[in-house]
Amino acid sequence: MTLIQIEHVSKNYVMGGETIRALDDISLEIDHGEFVAIMGPSGSGKSTLMNIIGCLDIADYGDYVLDGKAINQLKDAQLAEIRNQKIGFVFQSFNLLPGLNAYQNVELPLIYRGMSKKEREPLVMKALEAVELVDRRRHLPSELSGGQQQRVAIARTLAGDPAIILADEPTGALDSNTGVEILNIFKRLNKQGRTIVLITHDLAVAREAKRIIQFRDGRLSEVG
Ligand SMILES: Nc1ncnc2c1ncn2[C@@H]1O[C@H](COP(=O)(O)OP(=O)(O)OP(=O)(O)O)[C@@H](O)[C@H]1O
Ligand SMILES: [Mg+2]
Repeated sequence: MTLIQIEHVSKNYVMGGETIRALDDISLEIDHGEFVAIMGPSGSGKSTLMNIIGCLDIADYGDYVLDGKAINQLKDAQLAEIRNQKIGFVFQSFNLLPGLNAYQNVELPLIYRGMSKKEREPLVMKALEAVELVDRRRHLPSELSGGQQQRVAIARTLAGDPAIILADEPTGALDSNTGVEILNIFKRLNKQGRTIVLITHDLAVAREAKRIIQFRDGRLSEVG
């Protein structure tokens, strides 16, 4: 069943009179439960596509249908709601709040959803269990290793129970062993049925995905 349907999507950035064609007529479908890796040189449009898939940005041209819903015509508030309900982001730089411990970082998006403390606790604990960090829940980000910080970031994403996890270079700031650990978590989540789209520069990482999409100059050069 199709989850993400992108048809003839283009995205331009205009800066100082120059137009940069970040995405040039991209068409792509991703099914429920897929694990897709996106590769390509720096500046080829990978993060731009990820931002569109994640409803952080909208295309200039073309159509994007997410889980049966046309995204292009939506207003900012509606996009925010879809992001909140369906999308989980994981970034290279973890993006944890330094003044909150692991538990509180995972809890934060649930507070934004208006859940009570009682509703939040089992979800936070379940997410921390999924990344094997219950015993580190009182540690601040500065008191965790890089890999552990990324696992907290993944737990924060999981707590919201997103249909899709979008990861932009999630292992980029980690050594290769720690990267493998993080990758194994994504593989496990995918086995449990989550759809995962992961940007990477590392072919060894991409090979773990079930499908690799290759970008070049804002276009798809290969879908294998
Ligand atoms: N907000 C922006 N304003 C102007 N130009 C942008 C903006 N974001 C991206 N670009 C340009 O769009 C093109 C695609 O950028 P994008 O971030 O999607 O590349 P990428 O494939 O993710 O690269 P990297 O591997 O370095 O992260 C680049 O030429 C970039 O300079
Ligand atoms: Mg990028």
